Amino acid sequence: VPIPVIIDTDPGIDDALALALALRAPELDVLAVSTVYGNAPAAVTTRNARYLLERLNRTEVPLLGGASHPLVRAPSHALETHGEAGLGYATVPELPAGPHQNEAPVGLLALLAQSRTPVTLIALGPLTNVALALALDRERCRRSIREIIWMGGSAGAPGNTTPVSEWNAWCDPEAARAVLEAEIPVRMVGLDATRSVLLGKAAVQELGRRPDPEVRWWAEMWRFYVEFHERSESLAGCIMNDPLAVMALLRPDLLHWQEMYVEVDCGWGLTRGQTLCDRFGFTGKPANASVCLHATGEEALAVILQRALGMVL
Ligand code: RIB
Ligand code: CA
Repeated sequence: VPIPVIIDTDPGIDDALALALALRAPELDVLAVSTVYGNAPAAVTTRNARYLLERLNRTEVPLLGGASHPLVRAPSHALETHGEAGLGYATVPELPAGPHQNEAPVGLLALLAQSRTPVTLIALGPLTNVALALALDRERCRRSIREIIWMGGSAGAPGNTTPVSEWNAWCDPEAARAVLEAEIPVRMVGLDATRSVLLGKAAVQELGRRPDPEVRWWAEMWRFYVEFHERSESLAGCIMNDPLAVMALLRPDLLHWQEMYVEVDCGWGLTRGQTLCDRFGFTGKPANASVCLHATGEEALAVILQRALGMVL
């Protein structure tokens, strides 16, 4: 029986690949896609989610526009990482970003209430929408969310926003803290695992020369993303973080987990958004998350590209 999932996302280049993977996975029943600010402003991530659903021929999937800023902090966007339009050099139709209303938290709760079986929430951006849904109806969330699989944080891998902090956690640390305190099962797919899902520069260049215009559209998206990683981390490729969170459901054999206590730094300095992962139980506090400390990244990438887009490198 397909697993009912809701995908909360800030597309976003790696989000786009995660959406293609999830929407083309027979194992999953995508009940809805909700959007959040993050890689780009909410109106842009919502426009991109809408466009991706069209391009993937899945416009029957409900789309809920979500939070446009963090719970308490000023919004930041990663336009240097994902481009002004949020999808790199890929052409996105000039369809207006459209008015953006924050209906996701209430919409999520309504979907949870309607679902006969507990729903798996795949969160690929800042956790603002999830924290707002918790604030509105904590009991509904506890009763109807089977687990939250979050691409975010880092147990010990170098950060991508500060030396120790990962972007989704850094954007809204208070939201991440609220989710980790909600006593809902959380699986954290952080940089320790996702940094191994590396799409190489040469592979992107080769894809960009293939005859299929669909392949070239995605390759143009990734060309921008490679240029960013070259500038920011001297990487000859790009890291596909978000699809690995979906792979936790599709190929659990490729990810390895450890239960532990995780705390989010809600300060304002260089450790803002750090997910402090207590691997050895020094705090004595009970585990509140299962953290993916390792993934078989190369195989995961091959499976992601093949299942999502029929691409073989
Ligand atoms: O740190 C990587 C995460 O932040 C990914 O989800 C990426 O899409 C950005 O949202
Ligand atoms: Ca994302």
